[in-house]
Parts: sequence; C-alpha cells; structure tokens
Amino acid sequence: MKRKLTAVSILFGGLGLGWVVFLALVGRTQAGAGGTTFLPLILSPLNYDILLDGAAFMPHVLAVQTGTAVTWKNGESSPQTITAGLGAFTSPELPPNGLFDWPATAAGIYTYTTAADGSIEGALVVSENGMADWFNGRTPAQAYADSCAGCHGADRSGGIGPALLPGALTENDPFYFDTIKNGRPGTIMPPWGNLGLRDEEIWLLLGFLRSEPEDTSVTWDMDDIQASHTVLIDESTLPITPTHSGNLDNLMLVTEREAERIAVFDGNTHTLLGRIPASYRAHGYAFDPTNDRWVYNIGRDGWLFKMDLYTLQPVRKVRVGLDSRGLAISDDGNYLIAGNYAPYTAVILDAHTLQPLKVIATEGYDPDGRWVKSRVAITSDVAPSLVGSYFIIALKEAGQVWRIDYSQPGFPITKLENVGRILHDGFLSPDNSRFYLASQEDDRMAVIDVANWTLVTQIETGDTPHPGSGAVWSANGQEYGATVHAGEGLVTIWNLADNQIAAQIPTSGPGLFIRAHEQNPYVWADTMFAASPHQIYVIDKETLTVTHVITDGLMTLHPELTDDGQFVYISDWQGEVVRVYNAHTFALVAELSGLTTPTGIFNTSRRYEMLGH
Ligand code: HEC
Repeated sequence: MKRKLTAVSILFGGLGLGWVVFLALVGRTQAGAGGTTFLPLILSPLNYDILLDGAAFMPHVLAVQTGTAVTWKNGESSPQTITAGLGAFTSPELPPNGLFDWPATAAGIYTYTTAADGSIEGALVVSENGMADWFNGRTPAQAYADSCAGCHGADRSGGIGPALLPGALTENDPFYFDTIKNGRPGTIMPPWGNLGLRDEEIWLLLGFLRSEPEDTSVTWDMDDIQASHTVLIDESTLPITPTHSGNLDNLMLVTEREAERIAVFDGNTHTLLGRIPASYRAHGYAFDPTNDRWVYNIGRDGWLFKMDLYTLQPVRKVRVGLDSRGLAISDDGNYLIAGNYAPYTAVILDAHTLQPLKVIATEGYDPDGRWVKSRVAITSDVAPSLVGSYFIIALKEAGQVWRIDYSQPGFPITKLENVGRILHDGFLSPDNSRFYLASQEDDRMAVIDVANWTLVTQIETGDTPHPGSGAVWSANGQEYGATVHAGEGLVTIWNLADNQIAAQIPTSGPGLFIRAHEQNPYVWADTMFAASPHQIYVIDKETLTVTHVITDGLMTLHPELTDDGQFVYISDWQGEVVRVYNAHTFALVAELSGLTTPTGIFNTSRRYEMLGH
C-alpha cells in the first residue's frame, strides 16, 4: 500500500463521512507501561485521505509519516485549486471528484487553502513517526481532555473558557494558532507554546477543535475499579521507622507535574529526601490525620496511590476514574473520597486497603432547571468533633453541593441545590462551620452552613474566583477569608463574621492560589496568569494592604509555608525550580533546582491540621 497513515490520524479525523469505516479496521494494543500503541492502518477503502466538501477539508488537520503520498479529493460541485503556503505545493485545477496526490517527503507543517478565495483552510503535519511523535503518543482528544477540558468543558461546550466547537470558531486558523501558542495575556488562557506544546501539536489540537465532537460518554464502574486494585508492597514488610532523616511534620511535597513523580524535601533543611513515583499529573493530596506515615495522591488519569512517607514509595494503587481531581480523607483515617471529571462520579474507598466501597453518580438539576451529569469539582472533609462526620463534594455543572455522612451505613447524601454555576474549589472556616465555595461563572463565593446544610449567602467577588486551598486568618480581633481570581488580577478579602468584603487588592494579573499561616503575619497570593506571571503578592494580615511583591523567575505559583511559618516555598513551573524565601524578611534562602515542571507544594503538618484543603 502506498499510504502509511497511522491509525491515530484516522481516529483523529474520524468525522463521520465514511471515515467511520476505517475505525473498524483500526488495531489498538495496550503497551506494557500503560502507554497505548497504535498499529498502522493497512487497508484504505477510500481513494483519498482528505476530502474537500461542504466548504471544509476533512480532516481539517492530518498527521502523516514522511514518505506518505497524501491524496486530496475535490468533493465540491465546482472546480478547486489547493495551494500550500511558502510554495510547498499547488494542485492543478481539480474538477468535481478530481484527485490530487502530493508526496510528503520532508517533515514539517504544511498549511494550505483553496486558491479561489483562500477561505477554506487545512494543514498537514508531516513527521518521521507520524502521529506517534505527538502528545507522548496520546491522541489530540486525550491531550484536550488533559489540558483544556478543565476550562473549556469536557464536551467543548465551554466553562470558564469559551466554547471550542466548530460553529463557535469563526476566525481563521492563524488567529487560533496564535491564541493557543501565546495565550491571551491578561486572561487565564495559558501560553501553551511556553508550556511544552510544539507547533505541530498545536495544529493537531486546532484540527481537533475544528472537528465535530464525538460522543464522549465513558464508563468506569465498580468492576473496573476493583479490577485495577494493586498491592505494590505489603505494608507489613515495611520498616517501622523512617529511612530518611527528614522532619515528618515538616516535609514539603512538590508535584513534578509532567514527570509523574513527587519530590519530597525536608522543610527544616531544604534538602531533597527522595522522590515518590506518581501517575500522570499528580493532583489531589490527602494526608492521613491519624498516622504520619501515609499520604494519598490522585493523578489526573484517575490512579489513586497510597504512599509511604517513611520510605518514600507507593504501596497500593487503584484507578478510580479516567479523569480525576479531588481527594479527601476522613478524620478517623478510615475513608477516602475521590472526585472524578470522567466518568461523572465520586468514589468512596477504604483508606487502608484502597478497596472501593461506593460509586456515586453525580448528576442533578442545575440552577437553570436542566438535568445534567456533572464533574466533581472538589472533595473536602469536615472535623467530626467540630461539626460532623462529613465529606463535602461540589458538582461543577449541576451547581449542587452534597454532604455525605461517612459514619452511617450506605454513606447517606444530603443535597444542597442551586448553589451556583460552574462550582470550583473551596475551603472551610477554622471552626468548620462554614464552607466557602467558588461559583466561577457567577463571580461569587457561596457561603454554606455545614451543620444545617443551607446556603447562607453569596459574596460578590471579582471575575472567576479561584481560591485553591484558600486562606483564612485572624487579625484585628476579626477572622478573614480570601481568594484570588482566575479572571482578573485581584485578591478579595471578606470578614467571616458577616461575609462583607473587607478589602479588594489589585494585583498584576489573574492567579490560582492563596495561602496563610497562623505564625506568619502575611497572606501569599500568586499571579500565574499575568502577562509576566512571576509575582507573588505578600499582603499584611492586619492592614490588608500589600507589604511586598516577590518578583522572580518565569512562572511562579502555589506559595506554601513550612510548619513553623518561617519559610515560604514557591514553584517556578517554567523555570523548573522551587525557591525558598524567609517568610518574614522575603530574602531568598535556597533554590531547589533539578525539578521538572514543579507546580503544587504541600506541607505535611499544614495539611494534617487544616482539614478541608
Ligand atoms: C485555565 C483555563 C484555560 C485553559 C486550561 C485553557 N484555556 Fe483556552 N481560553 C481560556 C479563556 C478564559 C479564554 C478566553 C480568553 C479571552 O477572554 O480572550 C480562552 C480562549 C481560547 C481560545 C480562543 C477562543 C475564541 O473564541 O476566541 C482557544 C482556541 C483556546 N482557548 C484553546 C485552548 C486549548 C487548545 C487549550 C488546551 C491546550 C486551552 N484553551 C486551555 C481559558 C483556558
């Protein structure tokens, strides 16, 4: 066969249209280490690779191997000429049903249009390995799910970012290529060219966005979860004391996002103690409140690990979903709850064994009266001694917050509806009586009475509040809470007693994370979506004004204080370093280099004590 299209490019171009026929022929095997290998397609039942029809090239972007002869077919009723940029190729005028062959001998990106008015665009991505070169072997759809769905919606219908469906994308390809590559400075749309996406990958993503969505419904049920359960190390064989010299109350766990591991530093000496292998983009953490040995981590690919902080290794794993985010542990250390983006479920597990106990479907009526299946935006846990034995989960699209009693058989759920649109992250008041939850599309923080399970009020904040784990503190005889915003450079501070805004502080750009510590006089806020995303704002807890701005590095985020509030750790995602500052004088104390894409930082004792993370 002259054609050597890889199967992924066909899947990727699977637009209905007879391409469906190809799918039946596609071979797909699981490779050993969890990767997926796609077998080359052997038979091509059609006599073309790209069809010009209905004023569009289908697929809009195609990836092929060097040496492939690519064939276009003119499915229009009028003659057409296809012209590539930079003179790479020009077809003769093709009559209706006419074919044009071009041997793609050199690797590169070839954009082309119909010559008549240049309005119909397409692109060809040519490389040595075809599709296998891109996204670490993942499909553009998987890359979209990993990197874009969080803001633009799993089905591309929009979230805190706009809809990315063919009908909504009315500008030309170079315009959107530029948006994806360089981001939109001053908005939360990230510059993916700086975050590791190559031009070829950006073109493939754009091709994906220009295609009609396929049915994205997926299942991952109790049987699948159980079948994935794996014991890596028998806990009874582990040493009874730590094998490292670090202070267990003051470990700093740093997510190395793209390296599938967690670097563990000693917060006393700022030395690297070791690394724990994790899964794809380690995300939520839960620290066992009853035993300083165990930490749990969930990756975005749904793999949940039980990890040993004495020996810095994972001991058990289970896959709770296909796309996951939040994780919380009960105060007694017996139960875990994980929140999934796909499928639309939350999963309760036995924390000791990681055996799944209950899968909860997360769906309901949204504030506009539509029945929607919903991603789980956050999971949290309440101290039973303060309020009750509860997990809290927020249903992103359904706008509901559910309270789950883990002390009762069957884990009964109490639902609170109409909380807001596009719920995201939240945190608890120090006495756990209130839960503050970002309702991002409404630009509000919802205030929930945890004991009575009622909506107390909504605090109007700035554009798209994003508190991360949030910040609460006492000063001036008052208690305050605060959030940064993913939509604008602003810190909003409110008074916990009356939910009135106490201060709004402009910053240099949108941010994601804000932290405070009772033994440190400041509140720390990042600005990671600013045009120059390397400023951390240090705000005085009493005066509620900016004391200092740390300007350093390339893209800094997620300030986290050590257990005594003496030092603050700040990740530089693009600079691939964590910087440690004296949290009183702001002097640089250490630069922890050799890290790959560091993002979230979690201190052990801070996270044991502060339930609700
Ligand atoms: C953190 C949230 C966020 C993530 C993650 C994100 N985007 Fe965006 N994106 C936005 C926002 C917000 C806008 C609108 C910016 C503006 O106001 O101009 C946007 C705009 C866009 C646009 C322009 C849409 C239009 O109608 O003008 C495209 C295309 C786009 N994003 C693609 C992507 C792709 C592809 C990814 C993943 C690789 C991605 N985005 C990831 C938030 C995000």
